Amino acid sequence: MPSDTARRRCAVVGLGARARLFTEALAGPYADRVDLVGFCDVNPHRMAVHNDWIGASVPAYAAEDFTEMLRRERVDLVVVCTVDRTHDHYIVEALEAGCDVVTEKPMTTDADRARRILDARRRSGREVRVAFNYRYNPVHCAVREAIAAGEIGEVGSVHFEWLLDLRHGADYFRRWHREKVNSGGLMVHKATHHFDLVNWWLGTEPETVYAQGGLFFYGDEAGRRRGLARDYTRAHGAASAQDDPFAVRLADSPLLTALYLEAEAADGYRRDQNVFGPGVTIEDDMAVLVRYASGATLTYHLTAYAPWEGYRVSFNGSEGRLELLVEESTWTRSEVRVQGDTAVLHGDAVVDTAGRTELTLRRFWEPPREIKVHTGEGGHGGGDVRMLADLFGEPEADPLGRAADEIAGARSLVTGLAANRSFESGGPVRTRDLLHI
Ligand SMILES: NC(=O)c1ccc[n+]([C@@H]2O[C@H](COP(=O)([O-])OP(=O)(O)OC[C@H]3O[C@@H](n4cnc5c(N)ncnc54)[C@H](O)[C@@H]3O)[C@@H](O)[C@H]2O)c1
Repeated sequence: MPSDTARRRCAVVGLGARARLFTEALAGPYADRVDLVGFCDVNPHRMAVHNDWIGASVPAYAAEDFTEMLRRERVDLVVVCTVDRTHDHYIVEALEAGCDVVTEKPMTTDADRARRILDARRRSGREVRVAFNYRYNPVHCAVREAIAAGEIGEVGSVHFEWLLDLRHGADYFRRWHREKVNSGGLMVHKATHHFDLVNWWLGTEPETVYAQGGLFFYGDEAGRRRGLARDYTRAHGAASAQDDPFAVRLADSPLLTALYLEAEAADGYRRDQNVFGPGVTIEDDMAVLVRYASGATLTYHLTAYAPWEGYRVSFNGSEGRLELLVEESTWTRSEVRVQGDTAVLHGDAVVDTAGRTELTLRRFWEPPREIKVHTGEGGHGGGDVRMLADLFGEPEADPLGRAADEIAGARSLVTGLAANRSFESGGPVRTRDLLHI
């Protein structure tokens, strides 16, 4: 996308932090291919901030005027960056109005919403792309290439551990993500990236999921038990938040002040809630076992309270093993500051992409061989810029099949939904009982 050289007329819905990737790209490097013709959000202040950032005056529409915006601005491409629970509404409306859609992950948050999207996509004949930027990370492409080339033979199993550090992990417990109804929990909101990678790497789909998960570290009860609780609801203006290493101080960041603190009057959205306060309905420690159509199995663990951030993935194959280690941060200190749009725990080594990346091929009867990969610049290991080029740039061949459609969106989602169901039932869940894809 775009599939021809004609200019596209693009609208962005949901003008929060993530939307900046798109508004700046569309107003900047892709301005010669795409016209940015509309913003839509429940909060007019945030739309004004985006216009300020890009030095434009893109027409701003209230959420209830979304369809009117599509008509009046003759939109043919919609980028959806709203709160997860609202993605389906905008995707379906846009498809029915004849637009193509790029949606942020997760595609949606439950099976009914996913069905509505799949139906609308089929009915409309328009295109849906899910912004799975991690597929574009060069090291993830190298994994896909190695597996597809048969370097380790047939894959029998995958072992995958993802750690979110105290800086990034805590951030999911400060804002709307902390309620499962908004985000689907981290099995949907976060792990959708990881379940998608496994589907894509192995070229298969999940069939059976068994999972255990809980709130171990964050939340009011765990906070009291661990002596970490503080008596504030939101950090801004609270004396007891001053010495809390988990409090984010919005006023310290011009970006967070503009985007959230000064925008609160319009919608009451508070970005700095107490991670040990009441109302958390998502898990922070999750273990998942998946069986795929190919016969392969996955053991997966997601931890949202780790001292460093990154992941280890190992693939066991019939001809050897492939091992990936990525360190996105190496440690965290207990002094909170803010940088950009996320809270950062002070630490010399706390950087997004400068940690260690090692990809090692261990074929049977051969010494280990390191696969050298040029790790990318920019967010998500270089995935963001490459994804933007694929979405909005000159069309290019995609031999690795990085472009993710609504089927890929649904296949990654269903693993997380099945895990959530398994948390509740305590038993294994067949994905086809939740969603027929
Ligand atoms: N691919 C990635 O790596 C990545 C990274 C960060 C965020 N995201 C995704 O981007 C999306 C936005 O996340 P964010 O961090 O920018 O959140 P945010 O809270 O900063 O922004 C969300 C925006 O949606 C708006 N909104 C809320 N309800 C709405 C509604 N009903 N109609 C219209 N607008 C509405 C809010 O006012 C806000 O401006 C999420 O789906 C998230 O999963 C993806």
